[in-house]
Amino acid sequence: MPETDPRPGATAVPEAAVPGTGAPLQTGALLQTGPLLETGPLLETGALLETRELTKHFRIGGLRGHSLHAVDELSLSIGEREIVALVGESGSGKSTVARLLAMVYRPTSGEIVFRGRPLGDLRSRRDVLAYRSQVPMVFQDPFSSLNPSHTIGHVMARGLKLHRSELGRKERDAEAERVLESVGLVPARQVLRKYPYEMSGGQRQRIGFAQALSYRPKLILADEPVSMLDVSIRVGLLNVMARLRDEQGVSLLYITHDIASARYVSDRVLVMYGGHLVEQGPSEEVLHDPVHPYTKLLLSAVPDPRARIAISSADIGEPPRVVDPGEGCRFRWRCPVAQEVCSRVTPVLVECAPGRGAACHVAAPAGSGSIRRAGRAEAAPLGPVAGA
Ligand SMILES: Nc1ncnc2c1ncn2[C@@H]1O[C@H](COP(=O)(O)OP(=O)(O)OP(=O)(O)O)[C@@H](O)[C@H]1O
Ligand code: SF4
Ligand SMILES: [Mg+2]
Repeated sequence: MPETDPRPGATAVPEAAVPGTGAPLQTGALLQTGPLLETGPLLETGALLETRELTKHFRIGGLRGHSLHAVDELSLSIGEREIVALVGESGSGKSTVARLLAMVYRPTSGEIVFRGRPLGDLRSRRDVLAYRSQVPMVFQDPFSSLNPSHTIGHVMARGLKLHRSELGRKERDAEAERVLESVGLVPARQVLRKYPYEMSGGQRQRIGFAQALSYRPKLILADEPVSMLDVSIRVGLLNVMARLRDEQGVSLLYITHDIASARYVSDRVLVMYGGHLVEQGPSEEVLHDPVHPYTKLLLSAVPDPRARIAISSADIGEPPRVVDPGEGCRFRWRCPVAQEVCSRVTPVLVECAPGRGAACHVAAPAGSGSIRRAGRAEAAPLGPVAGA
């Protein structure tokens, strides 16, 4: 599986050139993609995309160095027309999950299945690019993906030529206007003539969603898409995300530090800690009645869960240890209810209520409802919650 630029249509970009890893994006050679994967079935669970024990370790400190466990055995699912929020403090592995799903990183182990097809089976560049047009990524900093010397019209037309090559010029123009309008950028015709520097941060972020939308995606990976925006603009963009789900049937993985915005817009919330998925369930339930001690700690830091909560390790003690972590719960050093078993055995995600899961020896003891491998045995991620 090649490790490439996650923008649909771009190829051959090394890991170091991906946003968030410190270096600017490069423009790779661009290829046309076809409508591959579009007819694939949904998974038996009804999920659009699933990960099964997805793991990403980074070697650090040279050959004799150490192993940084950014993501460990993470099993999640995202349904059709579903917004799933992925929350957790800095370094918990959220962006690594997004890059794995965008095929920027190769998993160390585990697999990702999209519409019934393991991504490991996508061998050709054409298949990978077709996947990326259905699962595009929107970044925190839209400037990194917008060339300042090109108008928005040029940017939109280029993407449409690559991914919707069946469209003629007039149809491309009409499609560009349609997607700009659907993300609230009006009058679209004027927007098409503008340069990125003529637009506000919120408008540029909407361009990112419009670009992704023009490829007719099934699932948009949005990594902190609103964290650089003012609160008033942020709400507008969250509403855009909800409209994409409701009116266009697009699913979203919404990565955020801000639990309140997750509550506002998402159907389900997944909480990560130290590379592990520690709790998941319908957003209202998880945020009103958290099960895992980490989720409780996060929410207790702010008395009103409706307030904007930015997750920061400074508020809640030491960050997790993810370098050569060994067995045991990664939250044990901060956990107020830790027991002896917590330092010996890594807790697995178990179903603690219908549609809800938590990984904690005390709050959700392993039993018949195990949904992640108990002792690394029977994996089965929770499906999307009906009616959520
Ligand atoms: N390319 C890489 N090489 C080595 N370590 C990495 C790499 N990418 C991420 N990591 C490490 O993996 C861990 C998870 O990082 P990640 O960026 O996924 O966290 P995050 O939850 O997105 O954090 P933030 O909220 O700050 O964006 C961190 O310890 C990070 O330093
Ligand atoms: S497994 Fe143990 S240390 Fe981890 S959250 Fe539960 S009680 Fe705390
Ligand atoms: Mg991140």
